[in-house]
Amino acid sequence: MQSFKKNFLWGGATAANQFEGAWNEDGKGISIPDLCTNGSHKESKRLTTHLEKNTLYPSHEAIDFYHHYKEDIALFAEMGFTTFRFSIAWTRIYPTGLEVTPNKKGLDFYDRVIDECRKYHIEPIITISHYEMPYALVEKYNGWAGRQCIDSFYYYCQTLFDYFKDKVTYWLTFNEINSGTMPMGNLLSLGVVKGYEGSIMDIPDDPQTRYQALHHQLLASAQVVALAHEQYPQFKMGNMICFIPMYPYSCNPSDILKAQKEMQMTNWFCSDIQVRGTYPSYAAHYFEENNIHIQMEEGDKESLKKGCVDFYTFSYYMSTCVSADPKHQTTGGNLFSGVKNPYLKSSDWGWQIDSEGLRYVLNAIYDRYGIPLMVVENGLGAYDTINQDGEIDDIYRIKYLKAHIEQMKKAVEDGVDLIGYTPWGCIDLVSASTGEMAKRYGFIFVEKYDDGTGSLARRKKRSFNWYKQVIESNGNNLEIND
Ligand code: BG6
Repeated sequence: MQSFKKNFLWGGATAANQFEGAWNEDGKGISIPDLCTNGSHKESKRLTTHLEKNTLYPSHEAIDFYHHYKEDIALFAEMGFTTFRFSIAWTRIYPTGLEVTPNKKGLDFYDRVIDECRKYHIEPIITISHYEMPYALVEKYNGWAGRQCIDSFYYYCQTLFDYFKDKVTYWLTFNEINSGTMPMGNLLSLGVVKGYEGSIMDIPDDPQTRYQALHHQLLASAQVVALAHEQYPQFKMGNMICFIPMYPYSCNPSDILKAQKEMQMTNWFCSDIQVRGTYPSYAAHYFEENNIHIQMEEGDKESLKKGCVDFYTFSYYMSTCVSADPKHQTTGGNLFSGVKNPYLKSSDWGWQIDSEGLRYVLNAIYDRYGIPLMVVENGLGAYDTINQDGEIDDIYRIKYLKAHIEQMKKAVEDGVDLIGYTPWGCIDLVSASTGEMAKRYGFIFVEKYDDGTGSLARRKKRSFNWYKQVIESNGNNLEIND
């Protein structure tokens, strides 16, 4: 039986705006998340157009990785990480996205972080844009709705590639680029929020503008992949998709068909372009039905064709169901909600837990593309408490991760070329959807709370030693010891 490869990459994943803090230090500019207030499971966060007094903006301090990176990376190394996925904040390098000269202090910070990783033989995997863009580009172009963003992004990537060419091999262009197929993508990844103030749930959505913006982002991704292939052949360029399998609720053919259609536009559309280099035929039909007209310029199709990725990465947290019958009860989820699956339990945030779905998804993706895969996010957002002995017994998280790693192993046995696993929020960080600290994913607890207080001290959770044992055994020892 095949098991995880000898050089399988084990690690964890984070994003700049959710854990770095230091939002305005050393020349950093304002990015969209810097204008997002905190929220909760019950009350959504707000986007503001300027900084309000007496309002908590969780990204501003987050867990202050900016000043704790040495301590944090040492803890990752103690767990045995062989990789660490993190993102670069565009605004640390180009504060408005429009400068000609990069901010040296920003580049130096990531240089130090990468060196620290390398010291422990931890392979960096860099997400170039993870749910943040300079707010100045929102004000000037309405985010990615403006084609000009392609040039700004290309320029930013040229800087990164040139600066880090000898130290970084793995690059992911845009985090969860397929969020742009959903209304929430206006805020998270596309920045189509010019002038908007208010609850993030009420952001106006114009599918025409959104898909045009996504086209620009897909082009930008392809152009920098092509740049890497031409000038830095040692790089490995990946995409990143939020994959949420959508099961037909029943064997009623109407459910099956509806699920297939929704899977196409939600889960497959972006990667069909990023891996195969062309818009899929089903998209033309969807655009026609929804009166969407993508404006393509001369050369766009060639650009997409020239920028196909080398490996495919995705986040996996949950699955959902699809029914042609509108009366079914819905449940919450990452980026969108769906029909409740009676066979699955949900997290405290309503995300349906489905470890077998991960095996299903790995097989489906590999069957379709046949290129190496990496699970770059997975995990359980849960309430953790420190007990009287000062310990955090997160057995529920261990069980979640164990079940998912078991299914990854089965997928490898099925023949899937899986090259790495970086569970989300390996150290507690700010939740992207709610802005909470209470929704924790980490192996490392950070004393930081929803009201902005906390010493920022780090403590190992029970899952810390468990994951260490998993890595030490290359995924063969998943036993839970007392
Ligand atoms: C993914 C994002 O969708 O899910 C992360 O890439 C995010 O940025 C993660 O944090 C978990 O979502 P949440 O809302 O629980 O933080």
